[in-house]
Amino acid sequence: MTTQKYFPYVNNKMFAEDVDLNDIAAQVGTPFYCYSNTAIGQNYQDYQQAFLAQETLICYAVKANGNQAVLSTLAKLGSGADVVSEGEIRRARAAGIPANKIVYSGVAKAESEIEYALAEGIFQFNVESEPELELINQVASRLNKTAAIALRINPDVCANTHAKISTGKSENKFGVPISKARLAYQQAAKLPNIKVQGVDVHIGSQLTQLAPFEEAYKRIAQLVTDLREDGHDISVIDIGGGLGITYHDESIPAKQAYADIAKAQLGHLHCKIVIEPGRSLLGNAGILVSSVVFVKTGEERQFLILDAGMNDLIRPSMYEAYHEILAVNKANSALKTYDVVGPVCETGDTFAKARQVSESKSGDLIAIMSCGAYGAVMASTYNTRMLAPEVMVKDNEFAVVRQRPNYQDVINADLVPDWV
Ligand code: LLP
Repeated sequence: MTTQKYFPYVNNKMFAEDVDLNDIAAQVGTPFYCYSNTAIGQNYQDYQQAFLAQETLICYAVKANGNQAVLSTLAKLGSGADVVSEGEIRRARAAGIPANKIVYSGVAKAESEIEYALAEGIFQFNVESEPELELINQVASRLNKTAAIALRINPDVCANTHAKISTGKSENKFGVPISKARLAYQQAAKLPNIKVQGVDVHIGSQLTQLAPFEEAYKRIAQLVTDLREDGHDISVIDIGGGLGITYHDESIPAKQAYADIAKAQLGHLHCKIVIEPGRSLLGNAGILVSSVVFVKTGEERQFLILDAGMNDLIRPSMYEAYHEILAVNKANSALKTYDVVGPVCETGDTFAKARQVSESKSGDLIAIMSCGAYGAVMASTYNTRMLAPEVMVKDNEFAVVRQRPNYQDVINADLVPDWV
């Protein structure tokens, strides 16, 4: 079982903090995402605490959940942002995250996006290739600015995670191969509108072991030493994100143990450390609440058909991801085995196969756990299903932080040319 202490059962009803999820469902309708503000804050503060002994900038990975209420919560706690698009820079800035706490990652930054980031005055570009370096230099020169950069290094380390979210192997599209790094830094140093300040590494997401981080940081430490010998002024090491969460029965290293690894491998270099956590801040701070539409008895199995689908939460179909599925009201303690599926017209629209869930009937509320990260942000309107609203809870209060769109607005977004 996951340790979801912010979604406890009280008298057999699941709460979000001190709010009964039945009350939210009655007001908002299902499906909806629900986030615990306190959990987000606690997760952030755990990182702060763990990295106290190192000069650290925590740059929340906005891609995990870019809701303005989430970003504002983190902004107020002092968080920076790791962004991968102009849209994410705009989101972070709108929520009050200062530009000088923003690092900008991503393999395909467009010219206009680079221009925007430079105009805002972000802390650092995490540059993923030599051509990108050239382009940033060109744009900076046109704007008469200097771009502070780190090169993202691909250390060729196996993260032991799902192949689709593994980024630090030489066959992945990310970063500059470590074997070419010294050459790339030499090239960077020659560019007049580039200021080399750091080294960046991110080897993947949902890591459940520390050894891959340790190996990557060891390689990065050696590189920083070499780069300094080559005459580069390296003062920042961005160690990426990636610490996993418990979805099922994974045991995840403590944030302190992760921080200790960074200190042991990199501390002697006296650099400012940047971390880019996403999932470990938001994942277990959010759930997706859905209703049972039908219970259907097939030839061999029972289907629990929900009003949430793969368009709302794509992780199970995309990464074979496991999410705990729990009855919001545990009045019925008998467990039954179901295939838990959504309404979308694809067999892949399956949240779990042969899963034991409290015996349920049409209209019952079901919570899909650990959905705060890479849930709402990856949702789509496939099958012309409206994006699920998002709700945030703090203590005994809740608020809708993104409304359910209405059909007319969605249809009106399409334009029909005269000649059709
Ligand atoms: N920094 C960079 C450069 C990244 O690419 C990522 C995630 C992070 C930080 C944050 O990693 P985290 O702390 O969240 O592990 N949609 C997938 C996950 C994709 C992760 C992409 N990069 C999923 O649902 O599992």
